[in-house]
Amino acid sequence: MLNTGIKVYLDNANIGELEKKYVLDVLESGFISTRGPLIKVFEEKFGEYLGGYVSATYSGTAGLHLSILYSLKKSGIDTSKNVGVILPALTFAATSHAVLYNNLIPVFADVDYNTWNIDINRIPDLIERAKKSGVDVKFILPVHLYGNPVDMEGIIKIAQEYDLIVIEDAAEALGSFYKGQRCGTIGNFGVFSFNANKVITASSGGAVFSKLKEDTDYIRFLSLQARNESKGYYHEDMGFNYRMTNIEAAIVLAQFEKLEYFLNLKRQFYNIYRDYLSNYVYFQYVIDGCISNYWLISCLFKGIEIEEFQKRLSSLGIPTRRIFYPLPLMNFYKKYVDVYLGDIEKVDFYRNSLEIYNYGLCLPTSTKNSVESIDFVAKSILEQVKYLSKF
Ligand SMILES: Cc1ncc(COP(=O)(O)O)c(C=O)c1O
Repeated sequence: MLNTGIKVYLDNANIGELEKKYVLDVLESGFISTRGPLIKVFEEKFGEYLGGYVSATYSGTAGLHLSILYSLKKSGIDTSKNVGVILPALTFAATSHAVLYNNLIPVFADVDYNTWNIDINRIPDLIERAKKSGVDVKFILPVHLYGNPVDMEGIIKIAQEYDLIVIEDAAEALGSFYKGQRCGTIGNFGVFSFNANKVITASSGGAVFSKLKEDTDYIRFLSLQARNESKGYYHEDMGFNYRMTNIEAAIVLAQFEKLEYFLNLKRQFYNIYRDYLSNYVYFQYVIDGCISNYWLISCLFKGIEIEEFQKRLSSLGIPTRRIFYPLPLMNFYKKYVDVYLGDIEKVDFYRNSLEIYNYGLCLPTSTKNSVESIDFVAKSILEQVKYLSKF
């Protein structure tokens, strides 16, 4: 709680009367599982908004899992050999977990120091390194980190040159634009998350986007246990229980009505933070012609001891969140990274990701906050930055 008596929210969902009404209607209808009519309604609305087709999933992670799995099938990729996937070192682990579910090898690229997104220039070298180590890279998974659009022209160019399938992890990027195109609609697939902390939520929930109907139709089929209903309980592939539920669809439909309002509020929060802090800290750089949704506004507080800073803010009632720890520097991932990096010093190879982890912080951006409370938060952060920079 701030000393004004106002509670500040980091990334909490903003649920109101509309969500409650839609959920109550669903509960009364009895369609509470994956069978209900609202899932289709949401798929149609969201598909129309994005300009293509959508399969609604139980989570973004499930969406990533299935879009990689389906792409492997569709392209007839031989998975008995080592198949690699390029992805950024700095992302939520769901991106790389989905790679591992498919028995593929994550090949991590360091991120660009300014955008915090995958550094395009490092990809060709990594593909070559992987190749020399017996790993054939077939995918690239750009992640629009914290909603900041990736250089998709660069990604597509590399994908064409090396014949790679592009799966955009747009989990955090609903409402962001790369040069006039919605993030998540540029690659072969785009995956969105509606987890509780995202711009809009379904409680959990996710969606896979494609411009091809047959793609999302098959992903939907896989998410419903690959069952051929016309033959009863007859299954034609290895299926999953990954479909969005009707209760989730009710929540996300209500949230979807508020999307523009939420995006607008986050933009206002960003402007407030910038006004107070831009002379002192580094915000994620947004490429010219692109628009971030400012899902979770984050910046680099260079030279400041971040844990101490976080504690001081917490004592003032301001919640913050550390940046994702670089995945290839985790013990669990060592065995994968060793395949293509061998003895190379990993801390140096992933130095940008590490620096961003060390000095970055995610700031309160939940739409449950008011403009006034964010103004107060930004002012308090500035005071702390000035104080801590003296030492
Ligand atoms: C970058 C990224 N990818 C994937 C996911 C996974 O989405 P979900 O939590 O809906 O499974 C998330 C968020 O949670 C994410 O932030």
